[in-house]
Amino acid sequence: MSENQIRFDDGAAYERMMGVWSRLVGEQFLAWLAPPAGQSWIDVGCGNGAFTELLVERCAPARVVGVDPSEGQLDFARSRHTAGVAEFRCGGATALPFDDDSFDAAVMALVLFFVPDPAQGVAEMRRVVKPGGTISAYVWDLLEPEGFPMAPLQDELRALGVSPMLPPSAEVSRMDALRACWVAAGLSDVATREITVSRSFADFDDFWASVQIALGMISAGSPLGADDRAAIQRHLRARMPADASGQVTYASRANAVTGRVLSLT
Ligand SMILES: C[S@@+](CC[C@H](N)C(=O)[O-])C[C@H]1O[C@@H](n2cnc3c(N)ncnc32)[C@H](O)[C@@H]1O
Repeated sequence: MSENQIRFDDGAAYERMMGVWSRLVGEQFLAWLAPPAGQSWIDVGCGNGAFTELLVERCAPARVVGVDPSEGQLDFARSRHTAGVAEFRCGGATALPFDDDSFDAAVMALVLFFVPDPAQGVAEMRRVVKPGGTISAYVWDLLEPEGFPMAPLQDELRALGVSPMLPPSAEVSRMDALRACWVAAGLSDVATREITVSRSFADFDDFWASVQIALGMISAGSPLGADDRAAIQRHLRARMPADASGQVTYASRANAVTGRVLSLT
């Protein structure tokens, strides 16, 4: 991987930055999918297991396998209380280390825009899911206002003349592109849904601590000096609204999609 790519290698820091956001979306996503209990799942790009944990807690799966290329993320996933139910493997979305028709359901939570060839990632999920099974995903609405939890940071970087780094397949985050990807993969019963969530931080400092790793990731092409960081912190403190108790709350929006692998009969 080049230095000019967003990398995930610290599962604990990821949890504070994004794991909490992912589960907020995941709650609504799973309520929408309403999958039956007892299924076997593959969670592609499972990262530190943030969504995998929810899957175990909400869906009573018979089996869950999480796959991710980052050992740093997987280490954290293996330390979760749900790790006894879920197993975790190192691997990438475009070459899943499983035979055809191995699972009832495949899912990607906040991953598809990181896959350099999203169509190949969807094709791989389709390959490992049995006929009649489901393939589902959610992504931040990355390119639209209020669609990405790190949008306030992106705004401040632009104000400093720094172009925030985007994942390689950011365009697939648009709802029409997401739907088109599922239709092009030959999936049936394709449905989409917008999911808006809001997250509260105890105070501005809690918010600021949570985004430190993100700041490093999205400015990786132009490392920030201490003065730049201090300016970003000052501007964000001024513009992040706090309620009477000091809490900082704001919303973000995800696009979700699901479809079914055609049955042979
Ligand atoms: C934003 S995190 C999402 C993690 C988790 N699914 C969640 O909901 O919190 C994106 C994850 O995608 C992984 N990733 C990046 N490129 C990937 C690829 N080509 N195939 C599979 N996973 C990939 C990263 O290592 C990272 O853990």
